Order: sequence, then structure tokens, then C-alpha cells
Amino acid sequence: MLYIGVDLGTSAVKLLLMEGNGKVKKIVSKEYPLFFPNPGWSEQKPQDWWTGVVEGIKELTSECDKSQVAGISFGGQMHGLVILDDKDEVIRPAILWNDGRTQKETDYLNKVIGTDKLSAYTANIAFAGFTAPKILWVRDNEPENFKRICKIMLPKDYIAYKLSGVFCTDVSDASGMLLLDVKNRKWSKEMLDICSIGEDMLPKLFESYETVGTILPDIAKELGLPETVKIVAGAGDNAAAAVGTGTVGDGRCNISLGTSGTVFISSKNYAENDNNAIHYFDHADGCYHLMGCMLSAASCNKWFMDEIIRTKDYAGEQKDITDDMLGNNRVFFLPYLMGERSPHNNPDARGAFIGMSMDTTREDMTLAVLEGVAFGLRDSVEVARKLGIKLERTKICGGGAKSPLWRKIIANVMNLKVDIIESEEGPALGGAMLAAVACGEYSSVTEAAEKIVKVIDTVEPDPEIAARYEKKYRCFVDIYPALKDVYSEIK
Ligand code: XUL
Repeated sequence: MLYIGVDLGTSAVKLLLMEGNGKVKKIVSKEYPLFFPNPGWSEQKPQDWWTGVVEGIKELTSECDKSQVAGISFGGQMHGLVILDDKDEVIRPAILWNDGRTQKETDYLNKVIGTDKLSAYTANIAFAGFTAPKILWVRDNEPENFKRICKIMLPKDYIAYKLSGVFCTDVSDASGMLLLDVKNRKWSKEMLDICSIGEDMLPKLFESYETVGTILPDIAKELGLPETVKIVAGAGDNAAAAVGTGTVGDGRCNISLGTSGTVFISSKNYAENDNNAIHYFDHADGCYHLMGCMLSAASCNKWFMDEIIRTKDYAGEQKDITDDMLGNNRVFFLPYLMGERSPHNNPDARGAFIGMSMDTTREDMTLAVLEGVAFGLRDSVEVARKLGIKLERTKICGGGAKSPLWRKIIANVMNLKVDIIESEEGPALGGAMLAAVACGEYSSVTEAAEKIVKVIDTVEPDPEIAARYEKKYRCFVDIYPALKDVYSEIK
């Protein structure tokens, strides 16, 4: 049988067709626009996602035996607020995970309600990108829109709803709404009251590998697919990527270098977490995970290459960066182009280059961007280490993971072995794997991961380079506090 994984990303939707044995048959990508209507705001039109998914599925299945398609599932950009009225019309553009407009609402939640209560209700504190502060923002700034809300959902759930007619979500993605009691995998009544919403406005909760329904007959006809195709709940893109990289079970790590950058650590049992600088969410394998999230990762390199250097030849720009330059760069880059989530929780933070002199080269600055992202991710690894988590190795996925130089930087900045897997298509592959589990091809997510994910190479840290980076990281951690007050002034 065949399975479709839909990775509903920020710049594009990526669709992947997988055979039952895990072989990737085809990948298709459809771009859509991203809107920044005010500084720090970030929005998309759910209708654009739907158009991309419909066109994408048609192209993806154009050469296969469509009768073999058994299931569709998702990895979706997390935290986005999608609101529908009583006619299922989208009320306003979706407010995305990297939108920073909710500082006031985030402060209200953390300071007035208080982080202790938030942690007790949800296992997390408020961050500007989370869904609950966005609901408060709509309530207080767009009361007419707020009054019309009948359904609140996350980006991938809009697609599942259009495909199946079932108003559903999964526990991994729901964790990022700050409305879920993560420990007990159910909605938090206290949080719903705080946000002035009723449970009837929220989707039914599923585990990521559970079937929510079958494809609607009209849609099946339009796509040329059988009416038996199962729609499977799916996961937030990071949990889906973890499935796609085999980061399931206990104490495994995955680093994603996509538009955002994340450090994802799987955890078999629920553990109280009193350091809320990183998130504590449900995982797509039925367990839990910790996660630190940077709002700009591969997007920093894309910005520097496309907008500043003005080239599309990313590999060409990296080819003259030699090993002796690693850990010896006097230029630092703070990768906070959209503000920062973990660990600083500051939507007003911004990017910065520091340490340039008359002999600074283009390579030094390109390297500083790659290093700045790695140092930012190390901030989250340090939080995990302080929680007592011992890491020796990590998987890596996302567009940035294609760069051998960036992998080497990550291995040495973190002092971790970096396992390279056959396919770095984390969320799309993870989505297809979740569909395969729901359709009975595998007995569990863990079994699917064991059978499908293959490590093809490992980048080992080099003791000399790692020691140099250790010193550089100590400088890096001093730069943000020195600039913090300046950021408030220039906002
Ligand atoms: C995770 C997060 C991002 C988005 C990217 O908390 O906000 O990684 O999921 O799509």
C-alpha cells in the first residue's frame, strides 16, 4: 500500500509518497506566500495551504496506482491560530508560530496568572508564539472576530478537516497551544476559562497515529483517490520529524535546521520540569518530549545568502571555509531575526553581527551565521543538560542539514556525534509513517521507526575544534545580555 505524508511548512507544503516498506517514491513541494503585515507579525492564508495540498496530492500521485493509497497524515507548523465561523469560513489570516505581536498577552499569562499555575495546568509557560496568547490578542484587539469564532484549530488540522470533515487535532501539536494538560493528554479547563473559550470550540483530541476518519467522497473524487483513504491525526512538525528520524522512546535527540531550529529530546515517562525555558510536550509515539525552539535557523542563512550576499549558490559560499577556521572566527552573529523563543523568550530580540574588523572576510561572516545558529541551539542543549539529561549523539534533519559544513559545526559546537540518516525529510516522512501505523502496516510508531529509519553516516566531533568552540560559546552567551536593553529601545 502507499502512504502520503504532508509537511505543512512555513514557506511551502512538502508532500511525500511512501511505500509500505518505508521506501520514498516521490516528493513534491508547493510554495505559498507569507505575510508580515506589521514588524514582528507573521501570517498566512489557510486557503493557500489547502490549494497547495490539493495541487500537491494530484502531482504526487500522478504516476502511481492511486487505488493503492491507503492513508494520509501530517506534520504541521505548530502553534498557528486558525479560526472558523459558524459557516466554516476562515475568519482572519492564521497567526503563525513566529509571530511576535502577543508580548502583552504573554506577560499577562506569565506574570498575572503566573508561571506556577501555567506549569501546573499545562507543563509549560507562555511564549509569544503559542496559541493561547494569540486567542487573548484576538479577544482584546479584534472583538468582532472573536465573537464569530466557532472552531479554533492548528494549521495541519485545517487540512485534516477539509479532507475528512472531522474537527480533530493530535496531542503533540495541541501541546503547543498552552491549552492542553500535557501530563494527562486532555484540555485544561482552567486554561479554557482564562482564554474565555469553551471546549466545544476546540477539536477532538487524538494520538498522532490514530485514524480520525476517511476522506470525504467529493474530495476523493477530485483527487482521484479511493473513498477508503484514512485520514490520520498526524503531529506537530517537530514530533513528526522526530518520528521520521527515529527519535522515539527515551533520551534520543534530533536537531532540526529548518526555517526554525529545534532541539528535540524524546522522553518515555512524564517528568516534572521546573525549567520552563524549553517546552515539555506530548510526543507522537504516545510518550513525551522536551524541545527548545529558535525562531530563525536555516532562515538566517537564507536571509544572509539571498538578501545580503545575493546568491543562490549556498554551497559555493561555504566551500572556502576550512577546518582551521572553525572555532577561530572573531565574528559572532546573533540569530534573532524574528525575535527569540528558547531560551530568551523575547520577541523584541534582533539579529546582530559583532566583532568585525578591517580584515573580516565574506567567509568569516557566512561562517558566523552558521555558528550563531549552532550556538543558539546549544543554549537549549545546555538547558537539557542542566535538567540532568545526558546526550552523546543526535540525529539531524531539515534543509540546513544538507550542508556538510553546518553538520560539522553542529557536532563540534555541541560536542555530540551527529548521525546522518538516509532521508532528511523529517516531518513529511514522519507523517507518512504515522499513516502507515494507523493503517496497520506497523504495530507501533517505535516499530515503524526501527524498520524504516537508517543511519548512513556519523559526524564525530574533533576534540581540538570542539575545545575551540567551547571558548567561543562562552563569549556568545555574554552577548545577548549586553544587547538586551538596546533591543527594547530599538523596537
Ligand atoms: C516549534 C515551532 C516551530 C514550528 C515550525 O515550537 O514553533 O518549530 O513548528 O514550523
